[in-house]
Amino acid sequence: MHPTSESKEITRILITEEQIAQRVAELGAAITADYQAKAAAGERIVVVGILRGASIFMADLVRQIELPVEMDFMVVSSYGASTKSSGEVTIKKDLGSSIEGAHVIIVEDIIDTGLTLKLLRAKLLERKPLSVEIAAFLRKDVASQENIECAYVGFPCPNEFIVGYGLDYAEQYRNLADVCILAPEMYA
Ligand code: IMP
Ligand code: MG
Repeated sequence: MHPTSESKEITRILITEEQIAQRVAELGAAITADYQAKAAAGERIVVVGILRGASIFMADLVRQIELPVEMDFMVVSSYGASTKSSGEVTIKKDLGSSIEGAHVIIVEDIIDTGLTLKLLRAKLLERKPLSVEIAAFLRKDVASQENIECAYVGFPCPNEFIVGYGLDYAEQYRNLADVCILAPEMYA
């Protein structure tokens, strides 16, 4: 059965499809303004999506950036069928091309502990890009979160388990159009 935000596993809708579209357009406009001069100077802009959670956000975001950009993807270790972070992050699939001398924008679905992005940004900086910034669709309100500088954040969100718009629980719910809170009894 196709999951909907009315499913019993969903506590409530947090962010609607319409709110998402509006915010993604704002982020795209901000990125366009910030990178306009760089693009005009002939510098490469590589948007790096973190699979699989960021795929839907990435697809919407790049279409709101009115500049020439490349798209690349990485797979890093993340949550399995669990809601608790492993505290370890490894690169399972690397970029398809070099980012040396390029501006990199990492596109991530959600910042929880912040461990994933902290390690990833450090690794990518070793490859001598001109810059590395982060665009996170959601940033969880977690007191112990790593102190990560994130240039673009879609929405702050409560410290609950979030699904939809690319975010999964045990690989389900990614295709919900709205961002929803998963019922705690699903993972209690
Ligand atoms: P971090 O390293 O703890 O910031 O974990 C980030 C990754 O964990 C994200 O890319 C997500 O794949 C996953 N994640 C964290 N919180 C949630 C959530 O509420 N719903 C779905 N996935 C989550
Ligand atoms: Mg995930």
